[in-house]
Amino acid sequence: MQFGDLRGWIAHLRREGELHEVSAEVDWDCELGTITRRAFGNGNGPALLFSNIKDYQHNARCTQLFTGGLSNYSRVALMFGLGKNASITELVQAARKAYSGRVPPVRVSTGPVKENVITGDDINLFDFPVPRWHRRDGGRYINTMQGTVTRDPTTGRMNVGIYRGMIGQKNTIPVLLWRPQNWGQDFARYSGKGEEMPVAFIYGWEPCLPFCASSPVPPDVSEYDVMGALRGAPVELVDCETVPLQVPASAEIVIEGWISPDPATFEMEGPFGEYTGYFGGDQSLKHKVRVTAITHRDKPIFRGTLEGTLPKMLNENSIMSSVQRAALAWNILERSGVPGVTDVHCPPANNGTTLMIQLKQTYRGQAKQAAAAIWGSNAAHLRYKHIWVVNDDIDIHDYGAIDWAFAYRVNAAEDDIVFFPGTFGSALDPSTRLKFRDTNIYGTGKWSRVLIDATINLDFEPEANYNGDRYPPMVKPDERDWEHVDRRWQEYGFTRD
Ligand SMILES: Cc1cc2nc3c(=O)[nH]c(=O)nc-3n(C[C@H](O)[C@H](O)[C@H](O)COP(=O)(O)O)c2cc1C
Repeated sequence: MQFGDLRGWIAHLRREGELHEVSAEVDWDCELGTITRRAFGNGNGPALLFSNIKDYQHNARCTQLFTGGLSNYSRVALMFGLGKNASITELVQAARKAYSGRVPPVRVSTGPVKENVITGDDINLFDFPVPRWHRRDGGRYINTMQGTVTRDPTTGRMNVGIYRGMIGQKNTIPVLLWRPQNWGQDFARYSGKGEEMPVAFIYGWEPCLPFCASSPVPPDVSEYDVMGALRGAPVELVDCETVPLQVPASAEIVIEGWISPDPATFEMEGPFGEYTGYFGGDQSLKHKVRVTAITHRDKPIFRGTLEGTLPKMLNENSIMSSVQRAALAWNILERSGVPGVTDVHCPPANNGTTLMIQLKQTYRGQAKQAAAAIWGSNAAHLRYKHIWVVNDDIDIHDYGAIDWAFAYRVNAAEDDIVFFPGTFGSALDPSTRLKFRDTNIYGTGKWSRVLIDATINLDFEPEANYNGDRYPPMVKPDERDWEHVDRRWQEYGFTRD
């Protein structure tokens, strides 16, 4: 689906009854974030457009903020051009298809994002209604749902990712720069030569931008190519003003700048209300972006989002992750030749930290093959700490079914629980001791990963007593008994259903 730009997407949501417009005055300082938390609810709230933000009314450079475009499954379905009631597995299949497609971008000479060009002393990040989303955030987080563009200086590939950053001074953005992330790898290439890295941040475009930017597609693939595949047409890009990068011509706002490897330039960053549901990434000196230009449309709409997932408090990252991370895992399993996968699911409350795989088992060790394939991929950096594998008679969208398989198909003495210690992992997960999460020393966090193999153990002998199966028959009534009772159901005095 093509929406043209953020405005086209907002208009579509308005028509679909998926947008709530807040015209009452709202304070950017904690009130906007709290409204967003309450409105997002358990992944069932509307997208939000704030147009009366304290200190940003009337002649301010930017008066509007949009959030929640992808904070429920219906809007993810609309992004894919599917019906609003599409199942999660249908969304996962649509994402798998997009990730496998490539439609390269095209370059155009100019576009609406160049309507205003600000450089030098006129740069002031405080001109934008950036919220303090949570009261304990270390600053006003400007980078929450932006696309961060960097380039691999050796191959020329442009990467687009979402990585957090807050306003430092009027022209600086201190950031969290983890080395296993693609911009971290790009940065290592520049800093290896003692050079600054050019970077551009995109705020507000079609929904495929944040969706693809927050997806760990393979490092040699540009998210611009995947966005083109998802929307079914090339993304139109314009050159930046002060960095050798390109950005969508109809983006709302673009911020350009450079990151130095010199620790003397670092600025305080953090903490931030993180996806784990805890404040994370302690306050410390981190890399910063020295802003060299801002370009924006007339009457720009700022795009941000509320991070931090808790049970019954879902958000854009939770909903997107549950689709993205399942789709990516399924593609990895297929590419690695793990046969028989019938469904893959990431429950939204943990943003892909837990992965559930359902498969048709034809040989021993298939669950371990699946876990090894997933954990060996770059997509596993921040996700897939815990993997469950079940047979295809277990519904992975039903935690009760998973729990039953855990109870009777898992035996730790039979190698059904496997630990993979000392792997890379999320530096924000508080279940890892703080000292082992120090990104400046170790580059990223440290996880012991766990596979719970809840499939029927094919090391067991086929049993004559069980008609040659390895497990006894289940107590589900025979089909003939069920049909007989079903026919007579009302005779027993029950109502149908
Ligand atoms: C709202 C949101 C915030 C995110 N914040 C960060 C972050 O601060 N740091 C980070 O490394 N990844 C963050 N991520 C996850 C990355 O965007 C994701 O891992 C993505 O794959 C990174 O792009 P890359 O694979 O090209 O490096 C965030 C994702 C979302 C949706």
